[in-house]
Amino acid sequence: MRKIKIEGRFPVTGTIRISGAKNSSVALVPAALLADDNVILDNIPDISDIEALCEILEFLGAEVTRKQSVMEIHPATVKNNPIPEEISSKLRASYYFMGALLAKFKKAIVCFPGGCGIGARPIDIHLKGFEALGATVTVDDNKYTIEAQELRGANIYLDIASVGATINLMLAAVKATGTTVIENVSLEPEIVNVATLLNKMGAKISGAGTGRIVITGVEQLHGCFAEVIPDRIEAGTYMALAALCGENLRIENIIPEHLESFISKLQEIGVNIKIGTDYAIITKKEKYKPTEIITALYPGFPTDLQQPFTILLTQSTGKSTVTETIWENRFMHIPYLVEMGARITVKDQSVAIIEPSTFEGKDIEATDLRAGAAMIIAGLIAKGTTTISNIEHILRGYSNIIEKLTNVGAHISLIDE
Ligand code: EPU
Repeated sequence: MRKIKIEGRFPVTGTIRISGAKNSSVALVPAALLADDNVILDNIPDISDIEALCEILEFLGAEVTRKQSVMEIHPATVKNNPIPEEISSKLRASYYFMGALLAKFKKAIVCFPGGCGIGARPIDIHLKGFEALGATVTVDDNKYTIEAQELRGANIYLDIASVGATINLMLAAVKATGTTVIENVSLEPEIVNVATLLNKMGAKISGAGTGRIVITGVEQLHGCFAEVIPDRIEAGTYMALAALCGENLRIENIIPEHLESFISKLQEIGVNIKIGTDYAIITKKEKYKPTEIITALYPGFPTDLQQPFTILLTQSTGKSTVTETIWENRFMHIPYLVEMGARITVKDQSVAIIEPSTFEGKDIEATDLRAGAAMIIAGLIAKGTTTISNIEHILRGYSNIIEKLTNVGAHISLIDE
């Protein structure tokens, strides 16, 4: 079994370059199927979620070539094969094939998606939106058949500003007849990235990044070149790490505006951070001030960064709290942190981090993607050796994490035992 082994307490210094955003790329790749000819995507991260998407593309008959971070997708040969559970369950973003295939073929058969077990993760808002566009949805066990004689523009109000539903409905509506207005959409930068790609393909989408998106359907979409935005969650993860063991650690290829709520919390607790146009430089301090974190939809504090930030708060003097409002199951890693020495208690959807604690290396298990990243940070500040199992979670979303950390002086390796 592959594991990550870490010897803690070595300083990290030098530069970490941030890769393309996982949560953008996993939408841009299925979106590319909507074009009639080749789509070239740059800055695609080297993560296993992308490998799983390539497997689905190839299963559908698309030709995919990858050279470093550039992916070229040839969608002309795509067939509308039903996507079985063995491959849909490999990642969450397989649900984007619902919107993309529905728009391309007026029919999609896709089994329920996978992803981290951080909550129930229903897709009811996606399905209601497809129905509003004129589709019928039938569910047989966990196979979703979504089909329409004709997709017609509609006014849709999302009950929750869901990232996945916003993207899926943009994909489904882009070739519908007439105009679709989607209200209460998610504001995440990843939404803007997807809308930008679709517009480059010839779509007519306005309002991405605001709470109201307007889509005027077009008949055809063509190939284009587009870039994935930098991964704000990867950047925030390395910033939290830098605040604990960085010596002038430079984190580059970031868009600081995408991390405003996170950076302002770093500043509030006293992190020594210099922000440039596309980089941040951080040097660790011994102690930080406590704070209160409540996760929220963008531009609020991202749920995907609360776990890495919690490790940072274990070095604050005084009591901090972290309240999770998006996912009901994002504290599964806390027992492992407590085993390592953290003084943390969990009550309902909040954790209280009581006072500064010293970590000791242990054998632990990555419970989900971001928890796994938090555990790597815990291992890097712990005394002795930490071994992390179940690392497939981590490799799903952090591009070349072992190499990036080794290059800045961390003692971390992939082992097989
Ligand atoms: N929700 C519903 N019904 C729906 C859709 C969502 O009740 O039909 C609820 C969810 O249960 C959740 C909330 O709405 O409580 C927000 O869910 P959302 O749909 O926004 O999440 P998602 O699209 O499934 C994406 C990211 C997550 C990230 C969330 C929130 C991808 C592939 N995943 O998930 O990323 O936490 O948005 O920002 O884009 C991660 O990268 O580790 C990760 C989990």
